[in-house]
Amino acid sequence: MNRVLGKALISREDIARRCAEIGRQISQDYAGTSVTLVAILKGSFMFLSDVLRHIDPEMHVEVDFMSVSSYGDGTASSGTIVIEKDIEVAIRGRDIIIVEDIVDTGLTLTHVYRILDDKGARSIRVAALLEKPGKSGYERKLDYVGFQIPNSFVVGYGLDFAQRYRNLPDIRVLDEI
Ligand code: IMP
Ligand code: MG
Repeated sequence: MNRVLGKALISREDIARRCAEIGRQISQDYAGTSVTLVAILKGSFMFLSDVLRHIDPEMHVEVDFMSVSSYGDGTASSGTIVIEKDIEVAIRGRDIIIVEDIVDTGLTLTHVYRILDDKGARSIRVAALLEKPGKSGYERKLDYVGFQIPNSFVVGYGLDFAQRYRNLPDIRVLDEI
């Protein structure tokens, strides 16, 4: 089966606007406190950097990364999660926001949440750029959501298919032909 780039689903302008809103919301919600953003590599790096630039410069905000993989090089979840890079900053007693590119089955998020909870985080919220319908595996609500999208495979703005297309400035559907 071949795949080709389809229509733009979310424009760079809409992405920029939502990232600014989410950054401002986080600044309000954590005003006077500190927060640690834990971004899930690789797909969330653009989302992280755009949201981060809209968090109040006076706020104490830390950033770290975790790398997990659940997809291999296909477009269907394998159902297993492998931790490839663990976080390095202290988590115990900290307020955490997990920064994720897209929540599909919710499996990745459920695992990451549990890992951070086990490390003694004081609170954990989730910021996801995209949410697909039917995230049955994750039981909590997503605290900050960029966009809800239909159940198609999307690429761009950090999201890949077999490591390609992360460089696209807009989010586009990857069509099967
Ligand atoms: P989940 O564990 O099924 O929720 O899958 C989450 C992970 O799968 C995301 O962090 C992405 O890396 C990847 N993923 C899910 N859907 C898509 C998609 O449409 N495009 C690119 N990656 C996706
Ligand atoms: Mg991801």
